[in-house]
Amino acid sequence: MKKALLTPLFLAGSLASTALFAAEPAKPAAMPAEMQQMMKMYTPEMRQKAMALSPELKKTIQQLHAQHTRRAKETTLRQIMHEILADYQAIASALATDNAEAASEAARRLAGHRIPKGGLLPYFPLNQINDADLGVLPSMNTIVEGSALKLADAADAGNLPLAATYMSEVMNGCIACHAKFRGVPGVSANLISAPAK
Ligand code: HEC
Repeated sequence: MKKALLTPLFLAGSLASTALFAAEPAKPAAMPAEMQQMMKMYTPEMRQKAMALSPELKKTIQQLHAQHTRRAKETTLRQIMHEILADYQAIASALATDNAEAASEAARRLAGHRIPKGGLLPYFPLNQINDADLGVLPSMNTIVEGSALKLADAADAGNLPLAATYMSEVMNGCIACHAKFRGVPGVSANLISAPAK
């Protein structure tokens, strides 16, 4: 009986201390520790939307974050996107110059991009912070990063023609995610009507 009581207490205590988590409502099972930390940076509106996600989707986001070991301190998603674009271009120039090692390295760097400050969610429109819209994230991840890793493996095996075929797979992922979550880049407030999407 004593043991049965102590175990959950111990678990709750260690969860609270690893998460440095005191003020938020207690939902440790549904809210992975890193997301709790990230949510402290959110506005009340964004936090409310994130809290309302299903436990499954929170877990999915946590898994996506966990696949990336590098964390940005201040860098935004848009800045990291530019790093990803630079890596993509580095792969193209490596393939074009018969440099399998550089192609593989750039592709693995792309797949292992840093997670921006606050994670991905705060950079998405508020009205897309729901299970249905965010449910596409794992497939976006698979097409972009899965294909980049296949490209790296092909380059490591010295098969540059095969590696090159994954370039379009990766780019299809970029395009699909932008079509869903990104507005029109760089819209000017000084135009009467925004460019059509
Ligand atoms: C998970 C969805 C997602 C994927 C996958 C994705 N992007 Fe993005 N990207 C975004 C979002 C959202 C923005 C807008 C971020 C902002 O403005 O805060 C963005 C912005 C950008 C920008 C900044 C300039 C602009 O046009 O807004 C570049 C460059 C970019 N992405 C390149 C890429 C490349 C290259 C890939 C594929 C290798 C890629 N992205 C894959 C979601 C994605």
